[in-house]
Amino acid sequence: MVIDVITIFPKMFAPVIEESIIKRAQNKGLVKINIHDLRDHSLDKKHKKIDDVSYGGGGMLFKPEPLFAAVESILGYRAYPEKKVDKAKRIILLGPRGKTLDQKTIGRFLNYERLVLISARYEGADERVGKYLAEEEISIGDYILSGGELAAMVLIDSLARLIPGVVSDRESVKNESFENNLLDFPHWTRPENFRGLKVPRILLSGDHAKIKEWRKKKAWEATKKYRPDLLNADDR
Ligand SMILES: C[S@@+](CC[C@H](N)C(=O)[O-])C[C@H]1O[C@@H](n2cnc3c(N)ncnc32)[C@H](O)[C@@H]1O
Repeated sequence: MVIDVITIFPKMFAPVIEESIIKRAQNKGLVKINIHDLRDHSLDKKHKKIDDVSYGGGGMLFKPEPLFAAVESILGYRAYPEKKVDKAKRIILLGPRGKTLDQKTIGRFLNYERLVLISARYEGADERVGKYLAEEEISIGDYILSGGELAAMVLIDSLARLIPGVVSDRESVKNESFENNLLDFPHWTRPENFRGLKVPRILLSGDHAKIKEWRKKKAWEATKKYRPDLLNADDR
């Protein structure tokens, strides 16, 4: 999978994509992340300006030309008007009015060969970007970030760990919260007894079938307690 990010702050991504799981995934060739500086696509070659005032007043906006040019140079085809629809690729604008990101959506993104993520700043991007360039808009929650970079990183991180081979323990990924609409079951580690607080005996029993059954029950109980909205109405 290839993920392209368009931003005016390319350096923000280094700590996330050059460390830990995502770094290893890139080294193994499982994912390739390209960070593109929007300013390289400015029509204004001298000052590299990419923003302008909002018609009607109210702050600065990302201009459409550099964003269309950046996406077109990444994908190698024109995005508008004679838009080529390539089902293997998806152009995503990060923004608060988009669909809120969840595990199901992340799973859907896994089906694309290439994602182009657009991070805006200031008041956001000119409306023509959301309407005629991006194929969908994604929000990471009902709050306002200063820019789309952190949202893009959240998307990249949660997507990368679903790519087969990225996380070594596939079983643990399958049991993670929100897979199958359940929260994860609770976990304990050593010591067995911490200040009188003991690890449940069943986990020390060595009976894997029973542990599996018990964990299933605990996942269900945790979901019912913390996130009943994830369960079917009849199960709540
Ligand atoms: C300061 S925000 C613009 C907010 C916009 N004027 C509004 O009120 O909806 C600048 C940029 O940050 C990104 N952003 C802000 N909040 C976000 C969120 N919850 N999810 C995804 N991206 C977000 C978007 O790219 C947005 O264009």
